Amino acid sequence: MPRAATSFVCQSCGATYSKWSGRCDACGEWNTLEEDYQAAAGPGGKAANASGNGRALPLCGLDAAPEETARLSSGVQEFDRACGGGIVPGSALLIGGDPGVGKSTLLLQAAAGVAASGANVVYISGEEAVAQIAMRARRLGLSDAEVKLAAATSLRDIMATLKTAKPDLVVIDSIQTLWSEAISAAPGTVTQVRACAQELVRFAKNTNAAVILVGHVTKDGQIAGPRVVEHMVDAVLYFESEPARAFRLLRAVKNRFGAAHELGVFEMAGDGLRQVTNPSALFLSESGAAAPGSAVFAGVEGTRPLLVEFQALVSPSTLASPRRAVVGWDSARLSMLLAVLDARCGLSFAKHDVFLSVAGGLRIVDPAADLAAAAALCSSLFDAAPPANAICFGEVALSGAVRPAAQADARLSEGAKLGFCRALVPAAARKARREGGPQSALEVSQAAGLSDLVAWVRNGAANATRSGEYRRPSRRPIEGGGDRRYAQTATGRM
Ligand code: TYD
Ligand code: MG
Repeated sequence: MPRAATSFVCQSCGATYSKWSGRCDACGEWNTLEEDYQAAAGPGGKAANASGNGRALPLCGLDAAPEETARLSSGVQEFDRACGGGIVPGSALLIGGDPGVGKSTLLLQAAAGVAASGANVVYISGEEAVAQIAMRARRLGLSDAEVKLAAATSLRDIMATLKTAKPDLVVIDSIQTLWSEAISAAPGTVTQVRACAQELVRFAKNTNAAVILVGHVTKDGQIAGPRVVEHMVDAVLYFESEPARAFRLLRAVKNRFGAAHELGVFEMAGDGLRQVTNPSALFLSESGAAAPGSAVFAGVEGTRPLLVEFQALVSPSTLASPRRAVVGWDSARLSMLLAVLDARCGLSFAKHDVFLSVAGGLRIVDPAADLAAAAALCSSLFDAAPPANAICFGEVALSGAVRPAAQADARLSEGAKLGFCRALVPAAARKARREGGPQSALEVSQAAGLSDLVAWVRNGAANATRSGEYRRPSRRPIEGGGDRRYAQTATGRM
C-alpha cells in the first residue's frame, strides 16, 4: 500500500520541499512553509485504462466546430472580447484583480448577460451574503436577472449545489474563500486553493459547464498564492485600474481559446461598469493639437488596434546623473532608446532630465512603441512638434534600424478612422499595405532607420510652422537658482 506523501509548500511562491524549514529558499520569505498532503497514488497498471480514457485519436477526424459556435455570450462586448469572443463551455477562467477594482460587479453583470441568453447561471459568493449580492444587483439594475445566487464556502456544499443545479456557467467569488474538508490547511492557503480549483476545473471538464474563478491579487500584483491555479485554468484575465481613474482594463494574459493580450475597456459609473467601445479616444489627449514632446503611437492590444499618446519632457539638468522617469512604459527600453539615439543619430540626452509618460494611464508592452517614444523624445529635445495629425509605429533595433511591426494594416486603419492623416511606418511595412483600404487616406512616410525619424520630426516642425498648423507654445524662464531653466507653459500635461 503506497503511503500518502507529505511535502511542504511555500504559501508565498508555491515552491515545494520535502522537509520543513523556517525560510523558503526560493523566495526568501520566512515562516511560509506549510504541510501539504497529497493523496496516495492509486494502483497503476493495465486496469487504469480500461475505460478507454486517454486513448490517442487521429486529429483529422475530430470535429471542433460545434464548440466554437456554442460560446456563451455575456452581451457585454468588451468582456466577450477579452475572453476571445465569448466564454467557451467546459472552460475554466481565472479573473484576478485588486480588491475593489470591480471584479464582483463585472461578473454579476456578465452572469446576468449570459442568463439573459437563456443559459443556466449560478453565482456563488464566499464573500457576500445572498442579500448583499441582491442589493448590488438592484443597484446595477439587474434585479430581475435569472441568475441563481448562493453564499457558500464549503467545497462539498458547492459541489452538491452544482450537481443539482446543472449550470451552464458557474461564477465562484472568490477561490481564496473556499475550503475543502479533505484538507486541514486554512482557506486561502496554496494547498486549499489548489485542491478547490482542481475540483472545480474537473467539474467544468466533466459537465461542460464554464467556470469563472475570481482570484485575489497580492501586493506585487500576482494572483495570491497559487500560480499553480494559473496553470490549471484555460484563461487568465487581469482586471486592472490606475489609481484615481474611472476606467478599468480587462486584460487576457493567457487564453487557450483566444488571443492573449486581448483587452476589454470599461468605465466604472454609479450604476456599474460601462463598456468603452472606442478606447483610442480615451488614451489620446483632449486637445488633439500637435505639441512638442507628444507623439501618437498606433498600437495593437491583442487583436484590437489602439491609439495612445506618448508624452516626453526633456529639460536641461543640473544633476550629475540626470533623472530618467517613465510612466506606462519600460524604463530599460527608454535607456536603450536614449543610447541608440546618442550612438546612431548623435543626439545626446546626457545633460538632460528625461520624463516619458503614456497618456491615460495605460501600460504599453508592444515593442513597436519604440518609434513613438523616440519621436516624443526628439520632439521635446528640439522643442518642436512632430508632424501634426500623425501616427507612428515601429520597433527600433540597437543598430538604429527600424524593424517592421505586426498588423500594420490594422494600425493604419485605426489611425485613418480616427481622423489622422499622416503616418510614419517601418520601411518594410509598405509592402504589406493593401491598396484601397481606409488606410490609403493616410500620407505614409517610411523610416528605415532612426535618422529618418529624426528628419521626419524636424521637417514636420518646419512645415507646420510655415503653414500655421502649429503655434509654438510660449516658454518662459523660471527665475532664481542662478541657471536658466525652462518651464513649458502651454502644453505641460505631464
Ligand atoms: P467590487 O465589484 O465589489 O470589487 P471587487 O469584487 O473587485 O473587490 O467593486 C467595488 C467598487 O466598485 C467599490 O469601490 C464601489 C464601486 N462601484 C461603483 O462605483 N459603482 C457601482 O455601481 C458598483 C456596484 C460599485
Ligand atoms: Mg468582490
